[in-house]
Amino acid sequence: MPHFPFQYERCLNQFNPSRRDHLKSLIAGALFAGGPRAAMAAAPVPPPVSPPRHEQRIAWWREAKFGMFIHWGLYSLLCRDAWAMGDEDIPLYKYEKLADQFKPEKDAAAGWARLARKSGMKYMVMTAKHHEGFCLFNSALTGYCAPKHAAGRDLVQEYVDAARAEGLRVGLYYSLMDWHHPDWLLVRESKTARKRFIEYIHGQVRELMTQYGKIDILWYDMPVPLDAAGWESEKLNRMVLDLQPEIIFNNRSLVSGDFSTPEQNTQATKGDWESCMTMNDTWGYVTNDHNWKSPHQLLQNLVECARDGGNYLLNIGPRADGSVPDQSVRILGGIGRWLESNGAAVYGTQRCLFLHGDICAFTRKENTLYIHVYFWPGETLAIGGVTTAIKSAKLLATNRPVTFTQKGRQLIFTGLPAVAPDDLVTVIEVECESEPIQQALSSLVDIF
Ligand code: GLC
Repeated sequence: MPHFPFQYERCLNQFNPSRRDHLKSLIAGALFAGGPRAAMAAAPVPPPVSPPRHEQRIAWWREAKFGMFIHWGLYSLLCRDAWAMGDEDIPLYKYEKLADQFKPEKDAAAGWARLARKSGMKYMVMTAKHHEGFCLFNSALTGYCAPKHAAGRDLVQEYVDAARAEGLRVGLYYSLMDWHHPDWLLVRESKTARKRFIEYIHGQVRELMTQYGKIDILWYDMPVPLDAAGWESEKLNRMVLDLQPEIIFNNRSLVSGDFSTPEQNTQATKGDWESCMTMNDTWGYVTNDHNWKSPHQLLQNLVECARDGGNYLLNIGPRADGSVPDQSVRILGGIGRWLESNGAAVYGTQRCLFLHGDICAFTRKENTLYIHVYFWPGETLAIGGVTTAIKSAKLLATNRPVTFTQKGRQLIFTGLPAVAPDDLVTVIEVECESEPIQQALSSLVDIF
């Protein structure tokens, strides 16, 4: 179905490289240091005023710690990642044809939800609409959506049902930037175009917030090229909270959100935060991106997020038919098995003030310290800077007690197995008299 081809082509002509670079640098400057796809690390710290009832609404998410991100759309057919349309300047009339080939398998979402649950993930966030503008949901505001093209089904409905069937919380990603909408490129020059576009965006968010029952997370993205006033973000979020009083939303609509979103790194920010990350280098399905991170690396990331009070949203990029690359399934399988016996060291943990260890990292729940040993040292392990008295210690996965002594600020475990009990990460659970805080010699570096 053609959508304003003439106008779009006209816009594309205006969209010369320098203008595009300008847009990209605009995002980079305004929101993400290092460029749109690079580190969202520098995404703004949420302003001190959180949205209403933040503490209450975010409580389940702080416990959950680990979620699945899903990047899926027409671009999955191209196998060249989610920015293909923009990066290659694919003309709209050509790109739109993909909608007539996008016909995923019926049980795709059920497969992801099962995979997420078995991987120890507690929530999912799927791209309801990415920058390409194609909606996986049924929208009365455009013909460019899955139910009105080859798929012939509401793929958001299938996803929502699948996540709920596995007991997972449901998140929807929604890109504010929209390369398909004829008004998007004009929003800064024309008041009427902006008005129409904002009505469209707010209208679609309303659809997402009303068509699928309870939604747990709204994950905005790419607020380009407007500022918060231009997007009418405060108004948008008020509507979202009116329609979904328990939802949480991120800060990528450029006003204070419930959490911030460092991207492709685990650098903590103030307040609640969630690191989103790919398992290889790309968000959508890319045939030849073989640069997979190891399960060990991904687990370290999850642990670091938990240690610093954050969550970890790990991405899969399913193929257009909905199948998930074997490598992702294998990696997640390993993480899931590890979490089955070590989940206590991750779920519900709180910001931990134990930061120093090259072969291990720490998480904490109240007075319990979890030592995640990444590189097993053999029969003896020493931890520095321990100022609280230790009551007991055991290997978390097997409950096997561990012998320890405290000498000054050194906590020394002895009689440990010579070989790492877990080839990924072995966790020692340590009960302390009070909140474990580390004052190791190496912490002085932070002070000097
Ligand atoms: C960036 C990318 C976008 C991706 C998102 C995920 O904004 O440009 O493609 O969906 O990050 O956080």
